[in-house]
Amino acid sequence: MDYEKLIDILEREHDLSEEQWRAVIGAQKFTGSVSGSQVSTLRDWAEVDTETDSETDIVDNTYSVVKYANDKARNIARKVFGNRIYIRGLIEISNYCRNNCYYCGIRRDNKALVRYRLTKEDIMECAKQGYGLGYRTFVLQGGEDGYYSDEVMCDIISSIKKAYPDCAVTLSLGERSRESYKRMYEAGADRYLLRHETGDKDHYQTLHPDEMSYDNRIECLWTLKEIGYQVGCGFMVGSPGQSVDHLVKDMKFIKKLEPQMVGIGPFVPHHETPFANETQGTYEQTLYMMSLIRIMLPEVLLPATTALGTINPRGREMGILAGGNVLMPNLSPVSVRKLYELYDNKICTGDESAECRNCLNSRVQRIGYEIVTDRGDAPSFVR
Ligand code: 5AD
Ligand code: FES
Repeated sequence: MDYEKLIDILEREHDLSEEQWRAVIGAQKFTGSVSGSQVSTLRDWAEVDTETDSETDIVDNTYSVVKYANDKARNIARKVFGNRIYIRGLIEISNYCRNNCYYCGIRRDNKALVRYRLTKEDIMECAKQGYGLGYRTFVLQGGEDGYYSDEVMCDIISSIKKAYPDCAVTLSLGERSRESYKRMYEAGADRYLLRHETGDKDHYQTLHPDEMSYDNRIECLWTLKEIGYQVGCGFMVGSPGQSVDHLVKDMKFIKKLEPQMVGIGPFVPHHETPFANETQGTYEQTLYMMSLIRIMLPEVLLPATTALGTINPRGREMGILAGGNVLMPNLSPVSVRKLYELYDNKICTGDESAECRNCLNSRVQRIGYEIVTDRGDAPSFVR
């Protein structure tokens, strides 16, 4: 099978048949398991000296399908976004959650967790600090916490928009009603992140208790789109039970939804969950899937996630070099950061936000990119 040809077709047509997807996605698993050269290439790069590495360090002449996809995706992102990296200030507003997803550290059955929620004043203070540091998007993320009624949320959203009219507000608050999504949009929210988690209904049910519904989740995404939000979906790479066929369905679903944003990161086990002993996703596969998404949707906003940075010290840099163009550092108050642990060993839970900002600056500069002060909307999106 000529995988390069298939990736070329993907670049040209922005889609593949199911069979072609299966071959392309399966190719990584195959090369990975025989320790293909691309895997060691990436690994070597991950370990190079942080002071001297550059984009060229991961680019050697070794052939591999992963490298081929990474290179192509990086070039596409360069064409669309130049060397500009967008940043989003992530404010984790609450770790209360009514849900019980088997993978997630803030699931309601995690009795070991100290719960917190931020007040409007706390959130405004985070935004103020973030604005000063150059953030022009604030992401309000939290568990599904009944405290944040539409009224409470609309007040917070409109206050942020009023104080910082040049900023975008992104919400990541899980499943809510159409009415609720609509009200928050009307209050000024610009974007909504809701990972679909997996494109396969049966697989979804193995990751979530029966009380959660795949159909409802997908319905929410279509509703958000219809209302006018810039929408982000996404999934975990290497979640328990995930097969190549599931990933094919992920790609098919993403293609159909045509979201403005796609968030993917490796599954990382959390010790207080039913998946505590499951295997974590690999960063090779995460990078590969990121690249395929970039090639399929050239203009999509694609973060190099904190989870990717957690499983590999250079994960976020490599995510950028594999086609990512967004970073989402933590702006939450330092006092609560450790409490928003969706998975074990999450990075940047101890730093001041200013430190994170500087740290990210130098990280992206070292690989030839720059962080910009910009809302960073999807290129062709008009509200
Ligand atoms: N590992 C990786 N990602 C996780 N998420 C939740 N739990 C984990 C985990 N253990 C992701 C989910 C969710 C997003 C907010 O975080 O995909 O949608
Ligand atoms: Fe947070 Fe580097 S990004 S410390």
